[in-house]
Parts: sequence; C-alpha cells; structure tokens
Amino acid sequence: MNKLLITLIASLLAASALANEVAVAPSVSADSLPPLGETWRSENPYRGNPEAVALGQQAYNQACARCHGADASTNAAPAPDLRQLNRFCRRIGDAELKAACLRDNDAYFAKTVRNGKIIVGVTHMPPWQGVLKQELAWAIQTFVEFRAGAGR
Ligand code: HEC
Repeated sequence: MNKLLITLIASLLAASALANEVAVAPSVSADSLPPLGETWRSENPYRGNPEAVALGQQAYNQACARCHGADASTNAAPAPDLRQLNRFCRRIGDAELKAACLRDNDAYFAKTVRNGKIIVGVTHMPPWQGVLKQELAWAIQTFVEFRAGAGR
C-alpha cells in the first residue's frame, strides 16, 4: 500500500471516530448557580461570575475538552479553540458596540451548542440540547471567556 493511501485511510478513520462521538452530560451540579429554567437565553447571564468559571471549568473538561482541548488552553486540538470565539468583540473599544458583539456571539454559542455542528450529514459535533443543562452551557462559556482573558 502506498503512503498516500495509508494517510487517506488514517484520516478517514480519524474523521469517523470524531463523527461517531455522542454528547455525554458532565456530572457537575449547577445548583450553586442562579437557575435559568427551561427556556434558553440568548445572552450569557453569568458573564464574569467566579462560581460559573469554576463549574464551567469542570463541565468543560468533562464534556468538551476531548475535542476542543484540555482546560481550554490549547489550539492544537482537533476542534476549534473556543477562546478565539469572541476575539473580535474583545478588540472593540466602544462599549455599546462591544456589548452588541458579545450578544451576537452568545446567541451563536447557544445555537451551536444546542444544535451541534452537522455539516452535509456528517456530525462534526453532536447536539447538546437535552443533554447539557443551559446553566452548565453558559458556565462553560464563562470559563472559556475567562481563559481567553475577557470578563476579567
Ligand atoms: C466530538 C467532538 C466534540 C465535542 C465533544 C464538542 N465539540 Fe464543539 N465542535 C466540534 C467540532 C469538530 C467543531 C467544528 C465544527 C465545524 O465547524 O466544522 C465544533 C464547534 C464548536 C463551536 C463553534 C466554534 C466556531 O469557531 O464556530 C462551539 C461554540 C462549540 N463547538 C462548543 C462546544 C462545547 C461548549 C462543548 C462541550 C459541551 C463541545 N463543543 C464539545 C467538536 C466537538
């Protein structure tokens, strides 16, 4: 078998290993965070909350790290580095524009987490709706932002 074929097969296997992943709920209690109910918010209600950072870190490491990288501190993982998500917002000086940018980013984060990323029938990321409590989803985003240097 030539090298090219081996590389091709290896990358197909790697892709299908990722595609077969299912969403498994982290075993982290969200009881110490203000409860949010069933209806998903479109904005992060916990931004900058230290308790959300701590719980978000645990939930992230259990549920997201295997694809997005341990402790949200590497850009060498197979899935995108989530610290990059709000980097454009962070650079905006105008407070109102920055808040609007973060709102858009929050809505994208929630939508992506709930629906997953299914592209032309291939599951790049499984949907988390019904698996991950929204309290933990926003806590995870709060942690990732803390790692990225925002919200401090
Ligand atoms: C099975 C692997 C896997 C797991 C587990 C996973 N993701 Fe993902 N995620 C991906 C991949 C792959 C992408 C990129 C999809 C694409 O655009 O091709 C992605 C994309 C995203 C995006 C959009 C990033 C962007 O730059 O647009 C967000 C937000 C996200 N994931 C959040 C999460 C969160 C939060 C968790 C944990 C609750 C999680 N993911 C768990 C694989 C995973």
